[in-house]
Amino acid sequence: MLWGSRFNKKFDDKALEFSSSLSFDINLIEWDIKVSKAHAKMLNKIGILTQDEKEKIQKGLDIIFFKYKDGTWKPNENKFEDIHSAIEEELTNHIGEVGKKLHTGRSRNDQVATDVRLWVKNSATELITAITNFQKNLINQAKENVNTLMPGYTHLQRAQPISFAFHMLAYVEMLERDKQRLNFTINQADECILGSGALAGSTIELDREFTSIELGFSAVSKNALDSVSNRDFILDFLHTCNLGMLHLSRLSEEIILWTSYEWNFIKLGDEFTTGSSLMPQKQNPDLAELIRGKNGRTFGHYLALLTTIKSLPLSYNRDLQEDKEGMFDSFFTFLIQLI
Ligand code: ARG
Repeated sequence: MLWGSRFNKKFDDKALEFSSSLSFDINLIEWDIKVSKAHAKMLNKIGILTQDEKEKIQKGLDIIFFKYKDGTWKPNENKFEDIHSAIEEELTNHIGEVGKKLHTGRSRNDQVATDVRLWVKNSATELITAITNFQKNLINQAKENVNTLMPGYTHLQRAQPISFAFHMLAYVEMLERDKQRLNFTINQADECILGSGALAGSTIELDREFTSIELGFSAVSKNALDSVSNRDFILDFLHTCNLGMLHLSRLSEEIILWTSYEWNFIKLGDEFTTGSSLMPQKQNPDLAELIRGKNGRTFGHYLALLTTIKSLPLSYNRDLQEDKEGMFDSFFTFLIQLI
């Protein structure tokens, strides 16, 4: 049992089913393994693990990741509270009791927040690349339409003639700001909090700088209490995904208007529209409508986490487990619109 001998009864099955985060924190597996390998290396450096123990642990972790990737190992959702406990048990199954030494000087509270920081840094970087490609498409559209005139509107009233290129480039600017916000988010996530323990650090003299550099962080966090409670960088990520989706939603709304019979400015390809057997004149811009609609989800995820965190006392509370599903969904929802 994860939390040891104080308990005489095993955790209730239904309670475990309700509280387990494994079904979604499985998305963190790659980062959890990286964090554990770096931690093991550091434990060896400070003399807690022998060279042999470190190598056994690192190799064991590599095998677990490999087996997960090729589908020969899938952690049992009915047995574990989260991906961290699942990996730890699997490691002990592979290499024996030495696997348990990996948890020295660490708590799942600092582990999970470190995993998520790495995930956010990586996902934000992926989004920046996807946005840049999307901007290139808009710029290409603009290049072809420098001399395509259209009405520019204020109050949804025809105001002054403008070029379609000018209109497209307005969205390029919005997306540029989204990239700036993603870079800000990366900076916010770019601190290593390992060593913060459950809430007040560790009695062992860990080499925090070493782990931080090993994991590619630029700095080490200063206050353990804050470190295990801090989810500001996730809020920044959700806010940024939401604003990005909002920009795409505005573009979608314009596309929907422009394709209607009343405006008749543009025509979408048959391969991107749907029709109606009953009303053959219709060509529906479903994809643009869905993008506009999906903005509701990212808005909701941001609001949900703000609400979850706003009254939490320091430091870690289990409520914080609710930080993940919306974060993953916001990322996938935003990314899929861009590629
Ligand atoms: N599944 C937990 C989460 O995502 C991991 C941390 C668990 N810590 C604890 N003290 N129960 O937040």
